[in-house]
Amino acid sequence: MASLSRLIVNLDIAGPTISRHVYGHFAEHLGRCIYGGFWVGEDSTIPNTRGIRNDVVAALRELRIPNLRWPGGCFADEYHWQDGIGPRDQRPRMINSHWGDVVEDNSFGTHEFMDLCELLDAEAYVNGNVGSGTVREMSEWIEYITRADDSPMAALRRANGQDEPWKVPFFGIGNEPWGCGGNMRADAYADLARQYSTYVRNHNGNEVYRIAAGANNDDVAWTKALMEALTDKGSASRKSSPYQGISLHYYTMSGNWDAKGSATAFSEDEYWKTIKAAQHIETLLSMHSTMMDVYDPDKAVGLVLDEWGTWWDVEPGTHPGFLYQQNTVRDALVAAIHFDSFHRHSDRLVMANIAQTVNVLQAMLLTDPETGALVKTPTFHVFAMNAGHHDARALLTHIVSDSTHDLEGAQLPTLTASASSKDGKVLISVANLELDGEKEIVLDLRGGQLEEVVALVLGGDHMAAFNAPEHLEAVAPRPLEVKERADGQLVLRLPAHSFATVSGTLV
Ligand code: AHR
Repeated sequence: MASLSRLIVNLDIAGPTISRHVYGHFAEHLGRCIYGGFWVGEDSTIPNTRGIRNDVVAALRELRIPNLRWPGGCFADEYHWQDGIGPRDQRPRMINSHWGDVVEDNSFGTHEFMDLCELLDAEAYVNGNVGSGTVREMSEWIEYITRADDSPMAALRRANGQDEPWKVPFFGIGNEPWGCGGNMRADAYADLARQYSTYVRNHNGNEVYRIAAGANNDDVAWTKALMEALTDKGSASRKSSPYQGISLHYYTMSGNWDAKGSATAFSEDEYWKTIKAAQHIETLLSMHSTMMDVYDPDKAVGLVLDEWGTWWDVEPGTHPGFLYQQNTVRDALVAAIHFDSFHRHSDRLVMANIAQTVNVLQAMLLTDPETGALVKTPTFHVFAMNAGHHDARALLTHIVSDSTHDLEGAQLPTLTASASSKDGKVLISVANLELDGEKEIVLDLRGGQLEEVVALVLGGDHMAAFNAPEHLEAVAPRPLEVKERADGQLVLRLPAHSFATVSGTLV
């Protein structure tokens, strides 16, 4: 028998706006993300626009991706942007020491990235180099991209074929300085963040949102140091602060860094450990937000989770430094849990970027290196089904259910949900995390009613079901029946390990 749960959605209690930027993405020079994923070059037999894969762009446009972070990650702190401009056959080479120790030919650089953003209709989030780059280098990069007149860098950009300046709304001041980005201590980096940010200028009305490289996981002391470094600048007001946002990185795995677990061959115990790790995002966002509140109660400084997602052992036979992994129903549920948490924290969380868009970690798309075939992952579908939350007002929701899963004494909720409204439309997201048994869910709508209700469900035969070239739609959204009870309340039956959205017009 299906267990019964109630999801209360207060249609008339709207909270902060959910920034569309929490549905942001990340593309690093890592494995086959840029090369093979986005970039195939103009001479490829794979249909492309100026070297960028048409099928990848078309698929990502379905997600309306709001921003794209590039070029790293760890790669950012060894990237020298001037190596990636000018004629491609004359660009210097370098070693990508973090990711596979392979030679990078710099054929995908600033112009190619900005072209990609334009094709995707996404805003650029450029991540600068603090670890091995100079202040001048960073300053000149923003000048090169965004300046309109005949300044030295604007002239250089024109000489390389781009007359009009581009927009760069987001700029990262290094990446993981506590690790791959320079092995720094918090106070030392905080001083550098102030210094480097100062020279990331606003040219020609391009107002940059500068993001200081923040904490890993639960390192609240790092967040504290970055907030303290802002307080002598007048309580962190958005305009006068050297940086306007602080990042956070958190990856989900069932094991640990030495044995992260397989993407597809996992036990029920590993499934629940993954769910627990994903649910931990709620605690992390609360911890870092609370620390920021101490220094910035008005929430002028934004929290930016610019790396998140699952991290599994690489697929057997693939390069260990390329971080290529499959993506199952379990990954989709991890994404659903994160988004519900993001929606609840929309007062402080201004952006989030899943790692990474194509062929790396929890990707939206996988491309076959031999045939070029494109696969949409289960995670892709969660992003698509949740797109209605972009810039919508978060609605107050409450789950009434006594169903939990006992994992070594911890009682894990087996239902996750959130809701939002925008322009008279309501979108409710809900996932059944149980591994067996349907859940009957009563949508207890308060303060209004919904008409023209449409529901979709995403699931699979198994918690480890995934898509591949020979079964592209093993995990894809299907229509879900919503019944109306005599008292007007809506009821849905959610299969085990499934994610659903219910949308309707508010009356
Ligand atoms: O996303 C992969 C890597 O994870 C990034 O390069 C780095 O910032 C993080 O450790």
